[in-house]
Amino acid sequence: MGFTELYQPVHTIIGEGCINEMPRHIEAFGGTKALVVTDPGLVKIGTVKIVTDVLDKVNIPYAIYSDVKPNPTVALVYAAKEVYDREACDFIIGVGGGSPIDVAKGVSILVTNGGKVEDYNGLELSEKKGQPLIAVNTTAGTGSEVTRAFVITDEVRKSKMLCVDSNSLAYLAINDPAMMVGMPPALTAATGMDALTHSIEAYVAAHRCPFTDGIALESIRLVGQYLLRAVENGNDMEARTQMCWAQYMGGLAFSNAGLGMVHAIAHQLGGFYDTPHGVANAIMLPYVMRFNMSACADRYADIAQAFGFDIGQLTTEQAAMAAILYIEELKKRIKIPKFSETAFDPKDAVAIAENAMTDTGMPENPRQPSIQEVVEVMMTAYLDKE
Ligand SMILES: [Fe+2]
Repeated sequence: MGFTELYQPVHTIIGEGCINEMPRHIEAFGGTKALVVTDPGLVKIGTVKIVTDVLDKVNIPYAIYSDVKPNPTVALVYAAKEVYDREACDFIIGVGGGSPIDVAKGVSILVTNGGKVEDYNGLELSEKKGQPLIAVNTTAGTGSEVTRAFVITDEVRKSKMLCVDSNSLAYLAINDPAMMVGMPPALTAATGMDALTHSIEAYVAAHRCPFTDGIALESIRLVGQYLLRAVENGNDMEARTQMCWAQYMGGLAFSNAGLGMVHAIAHQLGGFYDTPHGVANAIMLPYVMRFNMSACADRYADIAQAFGFDIGQLTTEQAAMAAILYIEELKKRIKIPKFSETAFDPKDAVAIAENAMTDTGMPENPRQPSIQEVVEVMMTAYLDKE
């Protein structure tokens, strides 16, 4: 008898102004002092102040660790944990895109389980529930606020550790589109493509189920309808709100179904070159889809329908190709850089492919590649001048 176990945050709130609902949840779990984990950019543009103003209003004390960088390293997790201990905090608020929330999850697990970050590199390796975590999402997005995964770079081995651990699930996930209006167009574009990649990979992943299929397809439809609008006008609150839903559902979908070869490669590009995660995914997505075509053209045809194509007169392969061409066109319109414009160096291709083969996402991919095939997919992307 098979069964499916689903993972999600204990509580989720989505919508304009919902950050103001945070105090009653803190009261519910009895939090007395917060460690706010974030990055310098979000302090500078005032996003962190929106969160701390809410805490100030109800006299909840907090300390701030704001040194998180993209593709966060093991050292950053320890540095944040040190502030948590020194300031005698008893819960954590991660404010950011994937990186600060990933660091916050790492701290949450270390506080209750002890040990090193490396001890949790893999599937369900901690024993105890993490310290209460509130994940305030500021991008749309990584899905990090809803997932049981956190990615930390091992700076010595230049590799990304994918820790998948239900003990790191947030107590409360917050998606307030009002906190996303300040996101510049390039970041909106990259994080939106990350959300799309989550849903597409989840829709064809080995552990998909009817629940993840449903939310993945609706998430894909929302990205198709609203991402360009959010990129072109950051103040478009309807587009921002719908992208919140898209990224939340994409996060839930991949957290429960798995990822695939796009993320397996993107994680390594982040580890090697600090390539922004969403950019790396957006670059690889259509090339991996072409590689996967023989294994899941029918599923890609569903994706074409979610994008709004009338596929009645098309063969399954033609419909699948329509989805791929649509993504390539969307990438151009939202100005995703070409692979050859990033720091990727072809001499690293084999090493990247070898690492990608060991990534947790790879076994979920509908077609298992050889190392050589991973190299070929990357080189096709690199040499594509379109
Ligand atoms: Fe991602």
